[in-house]
Amino acid sequence: LNVNNAEFIRSAAKAADFPRDRLPQVVFAGRSNVGKSSVINRLLNRKNFARVGSAPGKTTHINYFLIDKKLYLVDLPGYGYAKVSQAEKARWGRLIESWFADTSLMTLGILIVDSRHKPTADDCTMARWFQESGRPYAVVANKLDKLKKSEIEPNLQRIRETLEMGEDGIVIPFSAEKGEGRGELLALIVAHLEE
Ligand code: GTP
Ligand code: MG
Repeated sequence: LNVNNAEFIRSAAKAADFPRDRLPQVVFAGRSNVGKSSVINRLLNRKNFARVGSAPGKTTHINYFLIDKKLYLVDLPGYGYAKVSQAEKARWGRLIESWFADTSLMTLGILIVDSRHKPTADDCTMARWFQESGRPYAVVANKLDKLKKSEIEPNLQRIRETLEMGEDGIVIPFSAEKGEGRGELLALIVAHLEE
């Protein structure tokens, strides 16, 4: 997979805008500010391809990036941003629901959480969306560079337990900042392309 060949395709605000050309779709979900865009940039070895650090909660669309003309990376809008209105939250819910309504679109789901914290109730809800989709999914525990060495194992364990991942669940320790976990995540994505 040539990750240097990456193009922004579109920003979808409704189901009619979702690409349905049968290319695999790898979807990234997570709380606002958890580093979804940074993880995508790290995967692609780009600095600001998916836009980072702009005002949280502003991304209200589903962004599609086409990689090597072989698969889409799908950047879902972040959730859990406190300053968003009820109307915006409802809009988010409907958009995500319409995306998950057709889970045949999803090849692999990636839930990004903050490795420092216990996953939130919203993270658990998102994990359930993925579980109920019946499609493969994995968790990326981002911002690993912010942990002390001694915190890593207990924190990863807490993430597993809180998200009810079970023995076989995949949790990838990741640092978008330092690059840790990039190889493992890329390998996981590539493995699902060949199915
Ligand atoms: P929204 O698009 O608002 O939902 O946010 P996002 O999830 O896309 O987060 P984004 O990639 O914009 O990153 C948010 C902030 O976290 C930025 O300041 C990043 O530089 C920082 N950040 C992301 N990943 C890491 C990481 O692995 N380590 C550290 N130290 N900072 C990170
Ligand atoms: Mg983002």
